[in-house]
Amino acid sequence: MIDRPDIENLVKKVQANKKYEAITPKLVRRLSKSAIARGLSGKSAVKDVRNKLHQIGGAYFKQKIDYSQCLNELKETDKSLNSDQLQQFCARMMGLHASTAERLPILEDFFRTCLEPIAPVKSILDLACGLNPLAISWMPLQTGFTYHACDIYMDMLSLVQSFFDHLGIDGTTEACDLVGEVPTKPAQIAFLLKSIPCLEQVDKDIGIMLLEKIQADHILVSFPVQSLGGRNKGMPDFYQDHFYEMISGKAWGIKKFTFQTELAFLVTK
Ligand SMILES: C[S@@+](CC[C@H](N)C(=O)[O-])C[C@H]1O[C@@H](n2cnc3c(N)ncnc32)[C@H](O)[C@@H]1O
Repeated sequence: MIDRPDIENLVKKVQANKKYEAITPKLVRRLSKSAIARGLSGKSAVKDVRNKLHQIGGAYFKQKIDYSQCLNELKETDKSLNSDQLQQFCARMMGLHASTAERLPILEDFFRTCLEPIAPVKSILDLACGLNPLAISWMPLQTGFTYHACDIYMDMLSLVQSFFDHLGIDGTTEACDLVGEVPTKPAQIAFLLKSIPCLEQVDKDIGIMLLEKIQADHILVSFPVQSLGGRNKGMPDFYQDHFYEMISGKAWGIKKFTFQTELAFLVTK
């Protein structure tokens, strides 16, 4: 039996460093509990939890994001999804996160192609979203669409929420720990973009669990085709095999899309 004060104490120590303070405590608490359960304590427990947080979140930031500066820039930006100025702002912001940065060269083609079978889309659940909601301008959406986004970084979600509010989008954001709980909000489509490999570093069965439980008619799942360090290492074949193995036995419709920087599957339940 693990004492609650021990967990809370570890959570506090982990989040005392600015790099981890904006992460939802739900996730830090779960990882802290696991570290203590494995017999870790003191500095080694703090290091263990911080390493994991870096692996699943921190490693994707290409630089420290100055959110107040981003918000100031947003305020000066056009309030129209079709505006070049707004799209330039969005592309610049997406360039700050490795995952959206590597989607930039294929952005238009990616969403047009993957969403074409169900376009125009009326509701999206963007799980482990990163800065991907800033790609809304490039998605084939119905007028009055709704968008719900979640991730572990509360400061990033606050920028995404301000973006929704600035444009009058019917959008909401929520800090979540997808390994601890699956969102129950229904949607026409859920995005699980390049997140399964990341979540599997904490729970190896999370992929199929999410695919089964997410309340959406369609799920757009994708995988990276190279590592954060830029190496290919046979990743497309590896993730394709992994995905088909994960969904084996399921009577789901699957459409595969291959892009220069991403491998995607549209799952229809
Ligand atoms: C590879 S990035 C993908 C981001 C975005 N989906 C995209 O394609 O650009 C993985 C994302 O998962 C988020 N993440 C990691 N662990 C998570 C968890 N337990 N619950 C929710 N999000 C998580 C990270 O913060 C990061 O934004």
